[in-house]
Amino acid sequence: MKLLEERIREDGVVLPGDVLKVNQFLNHQIDPELMYALGQEFGRLYKEETITKILTVESSGIAPAIMTGLLMHVPVVFAKKQKSSTLDGSLYTAKVYSYTKKVENTISVDEKFLSANDNVLIIDDFLANGQAVNGLLDICNLAEAEVAGVGIAIEKSFQKGAELIKKRGVRLESLARISSFRDNKVHFVRSSEN
Ligand code: G4P
Ligand code: NA
Ligand code: NA
Repeated sequence: MKLLEERIREDGVVLPGDVLKVNQFLNHQIDPELMYALGQEFGRLYKEETITKILTVESSGIAPAIMTGLLMHVPVVFAKKQKSSTLDGSLYTAKVYSYTKKVENTISVDEKFLSANDNVLIIDDFLANGQAVNGLLDICNLAEAEVAGVGIAIEKSFQKGAELIKKRGVRLESLARISSFRDNKVHFVRSSEN
């Protein structure tokens, strides 16, 4: 998606360790118009599907997810990383290991917000090693929900996540695909390879 690639070139900062800082429009300050455009693009890509629910994980996935839900007229559910203080025991949970932070987190979704009647679109801001999306797919399996696919704003194609999702037989649509940060610059996967 050209608009997102241009914005990454303009405001993205490449940090050591192959990390792209996008605090200007996605991870801290958020550009609602850009998020709306992402939602429109996910809506276009998944227009043949009857999506009943958007699923993401807090916190940075929420902005693109909610715009997608707005465009598709469906609710948006975000998996929680912290245990809720109101323990009622009816949660779908999955373990998510973060290679970046070297910690294992448990994410959870209340059983009442996901069921076998749902056709889910999973949305997230970044796809790196794919552990977050993998956990969300596990939660959908627990709920016996259908998964129409995954929509990612920024995919780091040189990491394992994209391959992992495709190996699970799940459709993946990423709006910007980064092939490398060579010379501290963002290089995108050429569209002929998309
Ligand atoms: P994975 O789910 O793909 O395996 O991600 P990983 O554990 O490698 O990364 C952990 C966190 O870092 C995730 O956010 C992920 O979205 C984010 N992340 C990964 N690579 C980049 C990057 O190059 N740039 C930025 N800005 N973020 C990256 P999180 O911990 O869930 O935090 P948040 O959603 O609350 O922001
Ligand atoms: Na993040
Ligand atoms: Na995220």
